[in-house]
Amino acid sequence: MVKSLETSQPELLKPGVKAPVQETLLTPRFYTTDFEAAAQLDISSQEAELLAIVEELRADYNRHHFVRDEEFQQCWDHIDGETRVAFIDFLERSCTSEFSGFLLFKELSRRLKNRNPILADAFNFMARDEARHAGFLNKSMADFNLSLDLSYLTKNRTYTFFPPEWIIYTVYLSEKIGYWRYILVYRHMEKHPEHQIYPLFRKFESWCQDENRHGDFFKALLRSQPQLWNNWRARLWVRFFLLSVFATHTLTVFERATFYQSIGIDPREYNTRVIQETNNTAARAFPLILNTNHPEFFRRLEKCSDLNLKLAEINNSDAYGGKLRSPIFKFCQKLPLIASIVGHLLQTYLIKPVDAESLRGTVH
Ligand SMILES: [Fe+2]
Ligand SMILES: [Fe+2]
Repeated sequence: MVKSLETSQPELLKPGVKAPVQETLLTPRFYTTDFEAAAQLDISSQEAELLAIVEELRADYNRHHFVRDEEFQQCWDHIDGETRVAFIDFLERSCTSEFSGFLLFKELSRRLKNRNPILADAFNFMARDEARHAGFLNKSMADFNLSLDLSYLTKNRTYTFFPPEWIIYTVYLSEKIGYWRYILVYRHMEKHPEHQIYPLFRKFESWCQDENRHGDFFKALLRSQPQLWNNWRARLWVRFFLLSVFATHTLTVFERATFYQSIGIDPREYNTRVIQETNNTAARAFPLILNTNHPEFFRRLEKCSDLNLKLAEINNSDAYGGKLRSPIFKFCQKLPLIASIVGHLLQTYLIKPVDAESLRGTVH
């Protein structure tokens, strides 16, 4: 049995509008970038591939997919207690991360419009998809009498600056991990319809094809920039981004174990499968992938998750022996745990990776 974070009732900004979760290292981020550098990207070596993807995006296969059919028209009060809180949390995180994609893609398409029309078109179509995804999730939240104020989020969230190279690495990975996260939940629901607590999951099969297409676009963009994969520095960055995304995924899945258990998914198996599949997929874009079969790989990531849950316990525990804990006392308690997480991540980073360039052609 996996121990997850305790969940409390959602805080409200105003009636029916949920206060966004506190920003931490693990909450979905909002990004901004160097738009001038993005406009100057030379994509000529992958132009044919990128144009083909733009045409696929233009075709808009999911135009009629995001419809709230009659299955949604009912009362959801029977989803209650911890399951309800965990599900709302899942909807909120998913909505925030979809909306973050929308904002970045929309801004990129606006700024690149007259400079790099192929990229501008692609970003415009991808922004369209992410807006649909975020909107659909927000309407699902409304079924639970809550919603996110997306314009409030736009104005009040912190934007993290990433240069275009980092955006390409991280968004590629987040689209591909998004694909695997959605499709694995969908396949689980197909096999176990008794866990279909809400019709949203039925939408995931076509939905995840949007994420797959977005990922393919970023793959072509990445391959059009040889400096992102053909040298030792790129290899070190790729290892770093793969590990960051996989570690964040592990920590968030185990923090939200209650939600996965409530829909009959074993969080540990799910996390392992999502990471392995995403890692294998990444061999099509990256010069290397991580060795997830190494016996230390998941052991250390899961150890980080245990330590992360202990950190959260310290954060959430105010009273100690009847007295309030001072921030300094809490910090001293947390320091060895943080050091231990960093140590495990470093050891995982140092596991010899798998060369993907030599695998290319055999991976499908
Ligand atoms: Fe999306
Ligand atoms: Fe996407």
